[in-house]
Amino acid sequence: MPRILLIAAVSENGVIGRHNSLPWRLKSDLQHFRAASLGKPVIVGRRTYLSIGKALAGRTTIVVSRDRAFAAPGILAASSLDAAVAAARGDALRRSVDAIVVAGGAEIYSQAMPLAARLLITRVHCRVEGDTVFPGIDPAVWRETSRREHAPAAGDDAPFALITYERQAPPVEAAGAHGLPIE
Ligand SMILES: NC(=O)c1ccc[n+]([C@@H]2O[C@H](COP(=O)([O-])OP(=O)(O)OC[C@H]3O[C@@H](n4cnc5c(N)ncnc54)[C@H](OP(=O)(O)O)[C@@H]3O)[C@@H](O)[C@H]2O)c1
Repeated sequence: MPRILLIAAVSENGVIGRHNSLPWRLKSDLQHFRAASLGKPVIVGRRTYLSIGKALAGRTTIVVSRDRAFAAPGILAASSLDAAVAAARGDALRRSVDAIVVAGGAEIYSQAMPLAARLLITRVHCRVEGDTVFPGIDPAVWRETSRREHAPAAGDDAPFALITYERQAPPVEAAGAHGLPIE
């Protein structure tokens, strides 16, 4: 079965978004996201889809919305996270890829975290104001397995670390709801 990966860029104080946009400019992270998600089905919430403004090239973009009439060019709409995961599984099997990417935003991350096997977190080394935060990463459930620090390149507002967490415990319903704040 394809595994579910959450990919997110998160500030030191847990922020991921502001005014339905990213609160920083981080070209390196956009490249990292593209490389990590290319060829895989990608699930996003409707608000994140609207902030991106288009289907993701080279990936099946599955947009979750409770509005059953929601439709947009080049995307698959799903009226629940379960329906989105089912569509993503079918797409992953057709493409022969081993992963489904969940790419936000906050509402979708918190619902998908109990289903995920791996978290790819870009820890952005800055503190920013925002209105959306990443759910807590419970150290009883998630173990950091790799970390690479990066100085800011051209087009990056801040230094950052690319961190991988692997699930240690079997899926726990409470993992997203009761985790500790990220670091
Ligand atoms: N830093 C990062 O890595 C990163 C990544 C992604 C997004 N973001 C940021 O996160 C922010 C957006 O996050 P958000 O939490 O406001 O919105 P979101 O999670 O992108 O989308 C929320 C919407 O998804 C739909 N939805 C959620 N749960 C659902 C369910 N169980 N069944 C059916 N539909 C469901 C609803 O759409 P309807 O209202 O249509 O029903 C809901 O309004 C933006 O600022 C964006 O830039 C940051």
